[in-house]
Amino acid sequence: MRTQVGIIGAGPAGLLLSHLLHLRGISSVVLERRSRDYVERRVRAGVLEQGTVDTLIEAGVGERMRREGLPHHGIELRYGGAGHRIAFEKLVPGRAITVYGQQEVVKDLIAARLAAGGDVRFEVENVVPHALESEPYITFGDGERLDCDVIAGCDGFHGVSRQSVPEGVLTTFEREYPFAWLGILADVAPSSEELIYTRTDRGFALHSMRSPAVSRFYLQVPADTRVEDWPDERIWDELRVRLESVPGFTLTTGRITEKGVTPMRSFVTEPMQYGRLYLAGDAAHIVPPTGAKGLNLAVADVRVLTEALAAYFADGSTALLDGYSEACLKRVWRAQHFSWWMTTLLHTFEDEDAYGRRLQLSYLDYVTSSEAAAKTLAENYVGLPFPEDARLNVL
Ligand code: APR
Ligand code: PHB
Repeated sequence: MRTQVGIIGAGPAGLLLSHLLHLRGISSVVLERRSRDYVERRVRAGVLEQGTVDTLIEAGVGERMRREGLPHHGIELRYGGAGHRIAFEKLVPGRAITVYGQQEVVKDLIAARLAAGGDVRFEVENVVPHALESEPYITFGDGERLDCDVIAGCDGFHGVSRQSVPEGVLTTFEREYPFAWLGILADVAPSSEELIYTRTDRGFALHSMRSPAVSRFYLQVPADTRVEDWPDERIWDELRVRLESVPGFTLTTGRITEKGVTPMRSFVTEPMQYGRLYLAGDAAHIVPPTGAKGLNLAVADVRVLTEALAAYFADGSTALLDGYSEACLKRVWRAQHFSWWMTTLLHTFEDEDAYGRRLQLSYLDYVTSSEAAAKTLAENYVGLPFPEDARLNVL
């Protein structure tokens, strides 16, 4: 079996890449180890940057997002008994975010690929990339083989692609955080129209949502937290304590439908390519979810990789492919810094001394009182514009 691009992983990166390549007349095969049902039901983040929204619409897969997604023009930072709105419409006019679950993006992309006759294979085992420096191919299943010109490693942080690069080629940069996030999905109307990021001495909490009837919450918890440590009643009690810290705000509770613990990690691998293997999304980098950048970075990588592959398959030019990693890493490191900054600004660190806690509160006072400082947060949060050379030339 042969295709132009062998794609490992059917998350947002792999599926969007397959779709964008299809729009450019480039063939691909997506090999995913989980079932379609699992991939479509996996609850992940839910904030789309302006650039991601534009990309999905330009690529013809944004119709349901436009109908069901929730445009947001600001967020609230809540600390010290007061709430402070970061108003995107004032700080970054014309740019906003859209709240739309990542699994919804995945469903839309799978539907688009299958409707176009795309080759997306689920429950594929034993996926292994080979001959990355010459004529690449992927083995999978029981001795099956996919020959391809290029392999895209879109298989996430725990995938096989990054591991298949020879020892000593990649440099990794990592930061672990001494806490995790307990994520909760609840069948209850949001208690606020916008997202609320709150910093308290007990820890961080986030009020988000998925629809007018579904709320999404996160609690900062110890890194070794087990879900069974947090029965529903304890979750609601802690969310109340951390969120009900301003006059007039009451948290509405309801049936919790999903809970899970997410470790917090910053990670980058350089370069994001080796031979004919190109890494995109979580396979190459991980950010703490505080800045809501994970999915959006995957989209940005895929936009750059699509342009590079389109140029290569059009006339054999490899300049953009050779520069893929460098082009992606500029945005990756900006998002890494922003995500680290939001995390250190809003979370409590047990080993932080009194001086450090005062610095944190001083920075929050600055961000919520200075237009210049708030603009910095806003422009990173809604997403910096894509550079021209990665603009999508959709047919
Ligand atoms: N073989 C085939 N598929 C694999 C393998 C493998 N060896 N290993 C992992 N996969 C699949 C996973 O099952 C998953 O569906 O690769 C896919 C990777 O998808 P994501 O982890 O969602 O990564 P990505 O597409 O880069 O999207 C990044 O997803 O995890 C979130 O927070 C992250 O929002 C960010 C987004
Ligand atoms: C979410 O709604 O899942 C979400 C929102 C904002 C974040 C992280 C997650 O920073």
